[in-house]
Order: sequence, then C-alpha cells, then structure tokens
Amino acid sequence: MALVYITRHIPDIGINLLRAAGHTVDVSTKDGVLTPAELITALKAKPYDAVISLLTDTINKEVFDAVPTAKIFANYAVGYNNITLSDAKDAGVTITNTPGVLTDTVAEFTIALMLAVAKRIPESDAFTRKGMYEGWGPELFLGSDLKGKTLGILGAGRIGYEVARRAGLGLGMKIAYYDVNQMPQIENDFGAVFVPEVNDLLKIADVVTIHVPLLPTTEHLLNAERFALMKPSAYLINTSRGPVVDEDALVVALKNGVIRGAGIDVFEHEPKLAHGLVDLPNVIITPHIASASDETRNKMSEMAAQNAIDFLAGEVPDNVVALD
Ligand code: DGY
Repeated sequence: MALVYITRHIPDIGINLLRAAGHTVDVSTKDGVLTPAELITALKAKPYDAVISLLTDTINKEVFDAVPTAKIFANYAVGYNNITLSDAKDAGVTITNTPGVLTDTVAEFTIALMLAVAKRIPESDAFTRKGMYEGWGPELFLGSDLKGKTLGILGAGRIGYEVARRAGLGLGMKIAYYDVNQMPQIENDFGAVFVPEVNDLLKIADVVTIHVPLLPTTEHLLNAERFALMKPSAYLINTSRGPVVDEDALVVALKNGVIRGAGIDVFEHEPKLAHGLVDLPNVIITPHIASASDETRNKMSEMAAQNAIDFLAGEVPDNVVALD
C-alpha cells in the first residue's frame, strides 16, 4: 500500500477514500499554504508515492526532485497553471485535475457576481449597515438591468457554456462569445453568437465574463488598451485566473470610469491585491471562492483522491492532464 501526502487539509471525504483504499495519508498540519521551502521539506520527509497538491502550491522540477518516488500529483483544482507541465513530463510524473465537478458552482457564482455588481448589492448593504439609509429615494443606488443586454463570454468551455445557459435562459441576456474555436453547441442551445476577435467582443458586450485558462497567450488578455474598447457602462467579471487581467490597469479603468464596475474573484498576485483596488466602490472582490460550495469541494476531494487511487492501482486515472 502506498504513502500519500496532501499539502493542506481538504474535505475529509477524499482523505477517507484514500485510507479506505489502504493507503497511509499524511496531511500538512499547517493551516495555510506551505511555502516552497516548507513543501520541499515536507515531501523529503518520507518516500511518498503520491501527492495531492493545491492550486496555491508551486509545483516544478525542484518539487519533483524532492520526492522522486511520487509519480502522480493529483491537483485539487480544475486549473493547473501552478504546475510546470514540462517539468512533470521530464520527471515522468502524471498530473491530474478535477474537471466538471465545479462547473455549475462557478457558473452560479459568476451570475451572482454579475447581479451583485449590476445591482450594487454590497455597496448598498454597507451603506445600510452604516445607518446611512434615511428613507426611499428615487435615485438611490441606481444600477443596471441585465435583460436584453449582451453578455460577452471569453472562453466558452464547460463553465462559459453554463454561464451562457443561466444568463441566456434565466436572465434573458443575449450571448456573444470568443473562443479559439467556434462552439456549435452554445450557439444551438442559447443562440450565442461567435465573435472571432476579442476586441470586437469587448466593444459590443455589456458584461464581459472571463472563463479562459491561464496560459502564456491569455496572460493580460485584458489590459489598458482593451478596457478602452469596452463600453463605459460595461462590467467585467473574472472567476478564472487573476493574471488574465492586468489588475493595475483594471484599477485605473474602474477609477476613471472607463468601465462601470467589476466583480473579481481572482487576483493577479494572490493573495495580494493591486494597489487601490479595495478603495473602489464599483468593484466586488471575493477571495477565490467561486467553487467553494460544500457539495463541490467534497466532489473535488473525492475526485482528486480517486485519481491518486486509480494511479496507485496501476490504472489510468480519469482526469489525466496532457503534458504536451
Ligand atoms: C480551480 O479548480 O481551478 C478553481 O479555481 C478552484 O476554485
């Protein structure tokens, strides 16, 4: 039976699954992210056969060298930009992720952010709590309606598709999308219109929502030049990865009314926030919790554990990440 290391406590269901499969599981006892040095020290402690890593762990050659016995790193996330895939390939390590199980949860959260920023809910909640509400006013906290407006989806994969469903069928928004490939299903199901140029999508969208993975080609996909193309009445929602947006440029755009507002769950240099972001009333900032429901985090735990269990049993796990 094998030795498994988990870099931070995850919901018990996955840990129990690993133990029920006969594996010995060590879980980091630190209530927080291990520093790179702490991670290496932890992994060198025993000849682990498998590691369950988090999106906050930087996994590269140094880490693989620290634990040459571990030939699977099961990432507890759908995103795996924290892992240098070429190093995994060189080290002969299999990488898995947790796709699918968080799709609906992230789509719901995206809609929640969109509604919250357009209806100015956190802003007006803070106002009311401070005792500033002195009676109904015809122009108090005017926001925007979404019905009939255009949602521009950047990245129409699983999550983008489910956001389109909710926004199109539920809120009556028109859907336009950019992706590297045209996606017939989102067009057939929700009448989405393919816009082959990012810039053109930004010009027509009333709300732009980001669902692309973080890749060299998507880093700073939204920057000052691109904010300038957006409507001054538009909102930006980001539940994908922080570095897709130039966060300093976002602060400037929000401050100067280049765009009307933003709902941001991910940050360029997490957990740090760009200078000035917290001072802006027209941005909602949440701490990377788009997938944080009881149901989904349990499923992610189960899936990451199952990926490791299958690999350790000599099988090919369901969610292997391609290394090329
Ligand atoms: C993921 O799984 O990549 C998410 O960002 C975690 O919430």
